[in-house]
Amino acid sequence: MQVCKVQLVALLLLSCGSMNSHGSKILVIAPLSGKSHWQFFGEIIKTLADHGHHITSLTSMPMIRHDNVTETDIEFDRSPLIPNTFENRGWWVGISMMNKMPGMCAEALSIKKVHDIKIQEYDLVFIGSFVNDCFFGLLDGIEVPVIIMNPNALFTYFHDIVGNVDFPSFVPVIGLPMKYPMTFTQRLLNTLANFFSSALINFYYHPSVEKACKAAGLCPRDMRSIQDIAAKSAFIFINNVQALETPVRPYVPAVIHAGGLNCRPAQPLPEDLASWIEGSGDAGTIYFSLGSIVKPKDMPENFREVFVKVFSTLPQRVIWKWDEASMPGLPPNVKLAKWLPQQDILGAWDS
Ligand SMILES: *[C@@H]1O[C@H](CO)[C@@H](O)[C@H](O)[C@H]1NC(C)=O
Repeated sequence: MQVCKVQLVALLLLSCGSMNSHGSKILVIAPLSGKSHWQFFGEIIKTLADHGHHITSLTSMPMIRHDNVTETDIEFDRSPLIPNTFENRGWWVGISMMNKMPGMCAEALSIKKVHDIKIQEYDLVFIGSFVNDCFFGLLDGIEVPVIIMNPNALFTYFHDIVGNVDFPSFVPVIGLPMKYPMTFTQRLLNTLANFFSSALINFYYHPSVEKACKAAGLCPRDMRSIQDIAAKSAFIFINNVQALETPVRPYVPAVIHAGGLNCRPAQPLPEDLASWIEGSGDAGTIYFSLGSIVKPKDMPENFREVFVKVFSTLPQRVIWKWDEASMPGLPPNVKLAKWLPQQDILGAWDS
């Protein structure tokens, strides 16, 4: 059965020529995934849509404009999920999210637009990993091939899901400050951390998601475990470039590296940004952004002051992604902006 599914998915994705005439119907389930996750998913979706496939996505972050893509916005506020990352660091961010996730996921699952979706009518389902776990409940017993889209490198428990062999003896666990090659003590700690993080997911997080989902009457009482449902996925697309991984390590063929998919040639910059960058002369420009998850307003005042002070001493100009138009003590070599064309700014350095 598994082989049959893999072949079907491969057929869907690879034989684009014959599919042009009658595209497949594809469902994308990632209603709780954030903006940066969608940057990656969006490229996969747009490519399939360009090839004539018809995609329906369950999202709370509509951002794809394409004739063959229908975005079903569940209008769900996912912002309470992300803690203040200046106060919660490293693993605590994960733990805090893990505690909020089961309830929030069940809440999103209860939205009517979700129940109006008839999964059996689709030829293929993509599901965004990490935050949409309770949505695996919708896939239990459904004979539609599933592909997981993973917006970063492969995290420990996904190795079990796709049947990959994990090597804590030489591959540092994501989020630990250890680097390859590790010392004996580091390898020992890494092995324990690997075991601990898998156990945390399998014995705490996934069971809490299943419990919250069943308690809300949204998942069948006799539902298989999320781990088992997810394990029937044909592939996992990961947003990583294999040649850039350290150490180089083996993967089963079900793990498809698709990192860099969202990169494109730089477009010309808006006039004000272009002249700001040019005006920096030989010293150059520094681009400073904390990404889409960290809210600049959460930054403690003493942190902000340190950045301002250091930037003011630099010969370079600085473009700082910040959520307000001004700030106290802004040095003349720093320009603030709420939104910036990141790829075009970074690409401007090449030209
Ligand atoms: C949408 O899909 C159809 C086939 O189903 C295809 O002919 C058309 O070119 C696609 N549209 C775009 C904008 O790619």
